[in-house]
Amino acid sequence: MRISSIEDYNSQYKKSVEQPEEFWADIATEFTWKKKWDKTLEWNFETPDVKWFLNGKLNITENCLDRHLKENGNKTALIWEANDVNEKSRTFTYKELHAEVCRFANVLKNNGAKKGDRICIYMPMVPELAIAVLACARIGAIHSVVFGGFSFSSLADRIHDADCSLVITSDGAYRGAKDIPLKSVVDEALLNCPSVKKVIVLKRTGIEIKMQNGKDVWWHQASAELSLAMENPDECPAEEMDSEDKLFILYTSGSTGKPKGVVHTTAGYMVYTAYTFQNVFQYKPGEVFWCTADVGWITGHSYLIYGPLLSGATTLMFEGIPTYPDAGRFWSVIDKHKVNIFYTAPTAIRSLMAMGLDFVKPYKLDSLRILGSVGEPINEEAWHWYHEHIGKNNCPVVDTWWQTETAGIMISPLAGITKTKPGFATLPLPGVQPVLVDEKGNELTGNNVEGRLCIKFPWPSIIRTTYGNHERCKEAYFSHYKNLYFTGDGCRRDEDGYYRITGRVDDVIKVSGHLLGTAEIENAINEHADIVESAVVGFPHDIKGWGIYAFVICDHKRDDKEKLKKEIVETVTKFMGPIAKPDKIQIVSGLPKTRSGKIMRRILRKIAEGEINNLGDTSTLLDPAVVDEILRGKV
Ligand code: PRX
Repeated sequence: MRISSIEDYNSQYKKSVEQPEEFWADIATEFTWKKKWDKTLEWNFETPDVKWFLNGKLNITENCLDRHLKENGNKTALIWEANDVNEKSRTFTYKELHAEVCRFANVLKNNGAKKGDRICIYMPMVPELAIAVLACARIGAIHSVVFGGFSFSSLADRIHDADCSLVITSDGAYRGAKDIPLKSVVDEALLNCPSVKKVIVLKRTGIEIKMQNGKDVWWHQASAELSLAMENPDECPAEEMDSEDKLFILYTSGSTGKPKGVVHTTAGYMVYTAYTFQNVFQYKPGEVFWCTADVGWITGHSYLIYGPLLSGATTLMFEGIPTYPDAGRFWSVIDKHKVNIFYTAPTAIRSLMAMGLDFVKPYKLDSLRILGSVGEPINEEAWHWYHEHIGKNNCPVVDTWWQTETAGIMISPLAGITKTKPGFATLPLPGVQPVLVDEKGNELTGNNVEGRLCIKFPWPSIIRTTYGNHERCKEAYFSHYKNLYFTGDGCRRDEDGYYRITGRVDDVIKVSGHLLGTAEIENAINEHADIVESAVVGFPHDIKGWGIYAFVICDHKRDDKEKLKKEIVETVTKFMGPIAKPDKIQIVSGLPKTRSGKIMRRILRKIAEGEINNLGDTSTLLDPAVVDEILRGKV
């Protein structure tokens, strides 16, 4: 499955377009199946309905773990680095990880979990998070990991939408200098989630928490009890799953206030994440791979857990943040664990770049071979800094474009093979057929064109549905342009046929690489008792890529404007989480609306971006005077 040169890439790409089924079937054969599939692909983008490897039977954890035991059982599967520099790091061999996953799978079963159940995981970045994810997959339960930075109300929405029966969490979490009380957030969320019967709690920080009798169970106690009840608690047969059985749900923001539960299924996800991991990063046996993303996001699912483990790699997990105890932490971890491949987000690169080279200089960084970037466009300055100061001009930088819905990398250089160009994700991976269209859906052919990015043929890990609402999946991705999957991104194809992603063209904002729905943030702001209406848009931000600009209407005059703004920030933090805190808040008396009452976000966006001389046509507004007022009060 490994591409070894640009000629090889060209020929594999050609084959993947001309004979996609043969192409993917060849790759799928390399995995362990309980029963081989009968048919490689069935698809229809209208309904939409995509099935890969039909009637195949397998378990992804047998491919992540059991498959490696015989030859590589003593090889390190996972290295964990704690938030606190003084806490000992932990490592797990494949054999040890297999045992831990089986043991926790038994704990889940003992607590009533079974195939098809939805299990919410709301945990810090500790090895038990990866163990919990894999244990769900082991027994065929569908995991739904929620990022620990979301607060109770966002957590409750997600638990409720997926109708989860079990939650796995910890007492607290360490993030930099902060201790975050995760369990109490879960307690608050569960006031509105009657479907949850059990909560399994890992002890991490030791803070005092409430344990509800009969519902809350300590991880360590449940695990210890197994030894009394079972002869071999470290063994757990892998549930037989169909290729198209759901593996996980991962929520992502959309243009409405309600997040979408993106569903991925077993076999296609497995084949595509392993294939892209090995090819994009050109992973060599024995190397240490570090993806800094939280498992709460798709990058953590696909390139911290599944892709590396499916490939028998050594994956590193870091609990902390890049600036704790200081801005040299990433670089010290690279030296400490001799990281060979480092995969992070442009926001992290930009913020560390802003702290100066004194934090980089003390480190050798000579183990590094390849650098990766993901989640948002990387500006050229950050690309060069990364390449020169971290990669010492010696490591190819792979700028990988993809999405929660694609589950794996779609457009990216193959490290050391594809000639890179700063700011460009370059070329599609085999199996990926990008097209650019204009607003009406006409395909823009040839090079030197810019339009909306769509994909015209299914790849194995394409989104299958949005949980509980298939219509929403159709509407969000398959109804804009006939027979095309629409990504929501703008994109340019340059004179060399290289792709450059220009950013979102819908009502979501990428803030520090996190996709946030403006409507979701507005809902959180509107929870403030004095706010009657709000409109949120993005504005370019030097470090975060995009910042959040909120225009709010207060229902009575408040003279303490600064206090009100502070309260709004607190409200958003409380209801949605700190990642959605507005950077700028402007209190206004009205919003630019059309006569039918629709907010003209285009105008607000221009104002927030500072393009005030180019507001476009404002004549259709109900009250054009509000625009002048907003301009006068711009923050
Ligand atoms: O706008 C694109 C941006 O991130 C969006 C997907 O976000 P999410 O589902 O959270 O997944 C992020 C991790 C894969 C895309 O629609 N994006 C992602 N990677 C890049 C990017 N924009 C530019 N360049 C990238 N390399």
